[in-house]
Amino acid sequence: MSDLGASPGLVVVGSYNQDVVLSVARLPAPGETCLALKRTDVPGGKGANQAIQAARCGARVAMVAAIGRDTAGDEALAVWARDGVDASHVARIEGHATGLGLILLDSLGENSIVVDSGANAALGEAQVDAAAALIASARLVIAQLETSTAATARAFAIARAAGAETLLNAAPAPDGPLDDLLALTDILVVNEGEAERLAGRGDLDSLGQALLARVRRAVLVTLGGEGAVLFRKDGPPLRRPTYEVQVVDTTGAGDAFIGAFAARYAETGDAAAALPWGLAAGALACATLGATTSFARRDRIEGLAG
Ligand code: RIB
Repeated sequence: MSDLGASPGLVVVGSYNQDVVLSVARLPAPGETCLALKRTDVPGGKGANQAIQAARCGARVAMVAAIGRDTAGDEALAVWARDGVDASHVARIEGHATGLGLILLDSLGENSIVVDSGANAALGEAQVDAAAALIASARLVIAQLETSTAATARAFAIARAAGAETLLNAAPAPDGPLDDLLALTDILVVNEGEAERLAGRGDLDSLGQALLARVRRAVLVTLGGEGAVLFRKDGPPLRRPTYEVQVVDTTGAGDAFIGAFAARYAETGDAAAALPWGLAAGALACATLGATTSFARRDRIEGLAG
C-alpha cells in the first residue's frame, strides 16, 4: 500500500439518499394499502453509509458523489461535515433531486427498500476524472452499484494504476455478470442473493470460489444473522458467526459491515483481522432504527470485536 501523507485513507465513490423510513406492522402484499405507524427521515444511501461508518471507526474518508441543489442535499453536506467526511469532490446537480430511499420497516426489523436515484445517476466519468488525484492518493477505493458502473470502473482503474486497492459492494443485486468491474476489484463484498446474481446458483463454497477466481484478493459473503465467510487467495475460507443483538432495524447493517471492515483493513492490510470489525459494526447497526443513525463509533466496535 502507498504512503498517503495527509491524504484520505479511503475514498468512497457512491450514493447519498435521503431515507424516508415508514414503520409498518407488516409489509403490505401487492395491491394492498396500509397506514404507517411512524415516519422517520434519516440520511442514507449505500455509499454515504459506508463512508460514515468508516469515519466513525477513525479512518480518513472522502466521498465522490452527486447530490441535488435541494434541502436533502444541504442535509447531506451537514451529515458529512459532522462525521469529518471530506465532501470537496461532491457535485451539486442542477435540476435533479437528491436520491431518495423509501424504506418499509416491519415490526420484526425486516425491510423493503426502493431507491429513486435522482442526482446519484449524474455521477459520471468526468466527475471521477476531476477527482483523479484524490482517488490516486487513497489506500482503498470503495464503490457500490447505486451509481454508474462506468464511473466506478474509471475510479477503480485510476486507483489500480496508482497502487491503491479497490473494494466493490455489488449491491443492489446486479442484472449482469459485471466482468469488467470485477477484473478491477481487489475485494468483493456480497450477500448470498447478490453472489447468485453474479455467479449463478450453487452452494456457498462454490459461489465464493467462483467469485474469488474473478477478483484479485478476496470475496466476503455476508449471511445476515449467520455471520460472514471470507474467501481469500492467501488462505482457506474463514467463516465467523456474528454478535448477538436485539434486532430493531437491519437497514444499513451491510453498509456498517463494509465501512468498519474497510477502515480496519486500510489500517492493517489484513482481511481476516478486519472481519470481526465488520461483523461487530453490522450487529450494532441492527440495534436501533435507521442506517447512519444506528452506526457505532470505534470504541464500541473495538470493544465487541477485540
Ligand atoms: O443499504 C441501505 C441503504 O440502501 C439505505 O440507506 C437506502 O438509501 C439504500 O441505499
